[in-house]
Amino acid sequence: MDAAPARLFARPEGGGRAILVQLDSGVVDSDEAFVELAALAETAGAVVVDKLVNRRTAPDPRYFIGKGKVDELTTRIYETGANLVLVNHGLSPVQERNLEQALGARVLDRTGLILDIFALRAHSHEGKLQVELAQLRHIASRLVRGWSHLERQKGGIGLRGPGETQLELDRRLLGQRIKQLEKRLAKVRRQREQGRQARRKREFVTVSVVGYTNTGKSTLFNRLTVSHVYTADLLFATLDTTLRRIELPGSEQAIIADTVGFIRELPHQLIAAFRSTLEEVVQADLLLHVIDIADPLREQRRWEVERVLADLGAGDIPALLVFNKVDLSGGSARLERDGTGQTAAVWVSAQTGEGMELLRAAIAERIGRARVHGRVRLSPAEGRLRARLYALGEVRCEHISEQGVCELEVDLPQREWARLRRQEGFSVELWPSDH
Ligand code: GTP
Repeated sequence: MDAAPARLFARPEGGGRAILVQLDSGVVDSDEAFVELAALAETAGAVVVDKLVNRRTAPDPRYFIGKGKVDELTTRIYETGANLVLVNHGLSPVQERNLEQALGARVLDRTGLILDIFALRAHSHEGKLQVELAQLRHIASRLVRGWSHLERQKGGIGLRGPGETQLELDRRLLGQRIKQLEKRLAKVRRQREQGRQARRKREFVTVSVVGYTNTGKSTLFNRLTVSHVYTADLLFATLDTTLRRIELPGSEQAIIADTVGFIRELPHQLIAAFRSTLEEVVQADLLLHVIDIADPLREQRRWEVERVLADLGAGDIPALLVFNKVDLSGGSARLERDGTGQTAAVWVSAQTGEGMELLRAAIAERIGRARVHGRVRLSPAEGRLRARLYALGEVRCEHISEQGVCELEVDLPQREWARLRRQEGFSVELWPSDH
């Protein structure tokens, strides 16, 4: 059962000759949208043979695109020999089914396409489980009468109960498999959490590499760690989080994590499915946000990534911007500081290695061993935080007033303090200590 996750295509046979479809409601630039959709299609192994834009303010409830466009698409499918239609939006199950029936070709929406790529790219046990779960949930949301995705996959031999319809059987089987996957994932997550706790105990600082897909995260990761993570000019070449140790100037050490590429409108199922992988991001002490300076859409994409980070609860984690691919811009490596003198951005080329020493120095500076020493006042309701401070072994002494207010003298690494604040969401003040 742990084989690679099933790819979703189980309906009209389809194949690799794709027509791209984009609705133009005046919000998104359709040329840019097509470039990205074409890149996704190619990553999934399809060949783009044509594209179609439908200008309308709102989608058609039955077919998503207008009926006239459905007819035009039918003609184009015939003329080009296409067998796959990729729609760059989310389709309702009914729209997907109606389109497929009208066109006689397989139709995939944006979520379906990204899920398919993820199915191709997942390599680790956990990655495969996550993708399969996301796929099954996607299918479960689409099981509608008269259009069952599962019919061909299982055949139902010996499983069909008396009087049970195909639809009910599908639902039951799906439900069982989803439960089974959730259980397994929970186990993998526990193991991952144990690993994280062990790292924290050993005082390893974690740095996570994040960024839009194809910005050069894996190339940078390899440069920093001298490891061999798969890199390719494909979207989502890295799906599984990889952890390695890096050495930094001043004998600082950190664990660095390469993570899945972000993308505009990353389907919600996927964010949910990859939450445990992305937890490495949420737990990181520092984020390296990689931006491709040769990408004309870099600002928009930077904003998309920041939005996903905020959704994940990682919006407050300190970040260092890494403007990658300076070799393409004709510029050279450099480092920029913000108003407070803190390193804020580094320009590098992960490919040529230019600027790597600057980057290492900037990381070391940001994760340095600065400590916080002071007094914390906690109300009786904040006992959990008190327990955590004790668990860290950073409490020097404690005084409890008659009202039950507890005053702790603590001495702990700055990053530990920042992490506690993030995780516990408490609002206590740190009082400067007299000594
Ligand atoms: P995903 O895992 O798909 O999200 O991609 P990624 O962000 O990990 O990107 P990856 O490292 O796979 O690089 C994407 C492409 O950009 C590859 O073809 C790299 O060779 C290329 N690349 C990475 N860094 C540089 C750079 O500094 N300069 C140039 N010219 N190309 C680069």
